[in-house]
Amino acid sequence: MEDKVKLSFDGKDFEFPVLKGSENEKAFDVSELRKKTGLVTLDYGYLNTGSTKSAITFVDGENGILRYRGYAIEDLAEKATFPEVAWLLIYGELPTEAQLMRFRTMLTENALIHENLLHFFREMPPSAHPMGILSSIVNAVGLFTPRFYDDDNKADVFDLTTVGLISKIRTIAAFTYKASIGEPFVYPEAERSYCSNFLNMMFSSKAKPYNPDPIMEKALNTLLIVHADHEQNCSTSTVRMVGSSQASLYASICAGICALWGPLHGGANQAVLETLLRIQQSGMTVQQVMEKAKDKNDPFRLSGFGHRVYKSYDPRAKVLKKLMHQVFEREHEHDPLLDIATELEERALKDDYFIERKLYPNVDFYSGILYRAMGIPTNMLTVMFAIGRLPGWIAHWKEMHDDPCSKINRPRQIYTGEVLRPWVDRKDR
Ligand code: ACO
Repeated sequence: MEDKVKLSFDGKDFEFPVLKGSENEKAFDVSELRKKTGLVTLDYGYLNTGSTKSAITFVDGENGILRYRGYAIEDLAEKATFPEVAWLLIYGELPTEAQLMRFRTMLTENALIHENLLHFFREMPPSAHPMGILSSIVNAVGLFTPRFYDDDNKADVFDLTTVGLISKIRTIAAFTYKASIGEPFVYPEAERSYCSNFLNMMFSSKAKPYNPDPIMEKALNTLLIVHADHEQNCSTSTVRMVGSSQASLYASICAGICALWGPLHGGANQAVLETLLRIQQSGMTVQQVMEKAKDKNDPFRLSGFGHRVYKSYDPRAKVLKKLMHQVFEREHEHDPLLDIATELEERALKDDYFIERKLYPNVDFYSGILYRAMGIPTNMLTVMFAIGRLPGWIAHWKEMHDDPCSKINRPRQIYTGEVLRPWVDRKDR
């Protein structure tokens, strides 16, 4: 294979290096393109643009492969705990027993949020979307914490900020829910696991103590793991973009949460459930919904299908589909939305429109049904995604800060507006 790309432009020949990743991915390095040729590249939606080198997550979209730091998502989903995966993503290796114990202790010690923030939850309008509340409060938590950059002992402060965010995001999510239903907050308990603590804060009350079902605790652990990272997706790129200006970790994560909120990204899990409920409640058939999704005059899309990178079955959706059957079999419960989802998937996988465009179920297709089985309300589904994705965002923020090649992210553009024209006085306009 050649290790250079040759380019001819304006009667001159240029050569650019080809880079190779550890999984043999090849890239045409255009770092010197403008300097050598005067040209910039244009790539709407970054379909062909690598924004960075990264050693965190490997995705092979053609073959449905996902690995965190070299470990297969299937192994991690089955064998790891979410705090273990968080550590792996952020620090690069699986934690030792001692490291994990310390991490768990720190998660326990940093679960509370400042009491002054509690009025925030109670005074938000009842219609406020939980993602808006989450992003605002994550940013506000930073205001109660010494600024990362102001401290000399960077590594220690980073560890504390990281563990604080991973722990507090559960508390914020659960308090948001409690405030929305007008119930008193339930505080984190030291002896509980990460997932059990969250479920307890969500569903326990003085009137009705709640004992998290171990099956649901395991399901939540798996859901958070499959969401934990996905290389340079929209929200992670946002975290890197904001962080590249040396904005704080809190501000960068807040921006990532906002990016995740959109229905083309993390917001798709809420949209999937809404579509399934719509089919169940409106009498629309699965086929009618599919025709609507295929109609080019209709903006409706079948949420939970399609992916920028996966052109085969999303491996995360495979893990969740298996998990869902395990949960429903063991619980001896039945959710009619599961039948609708199964029919939708079966029909889509046989439909020419979906086959030609390689549209398969993505991670969001089944996650909503699982969260529903736990009792998580539909408008909280994207918040659950954010809890899972947080370690990935932090890992990318750290990787960018530790990389001596990092620069402030500042894309170019092709200007298409007016050329210079004379000023026009207001009365003549
Ligand atoms: N329903 C119907 N048609 C679709 C869908 C869908 N879910 N997804 C893509 N298509 C069609 C497009 O209309 C387009 O058709 P065309 O070639 O005839 O114009 C073609 O498939 C390619 O789609 P693009 O939008 O160009 O693909 P892109 O890579 O830009 O978008 C995306 C990927 C945003 C995920 C898209 O598939 C989508 O909107 N899916 C639904 C939303 C969703 O589930 N998002 C979650 C993704 S996973 C995540 O972010 C965690």
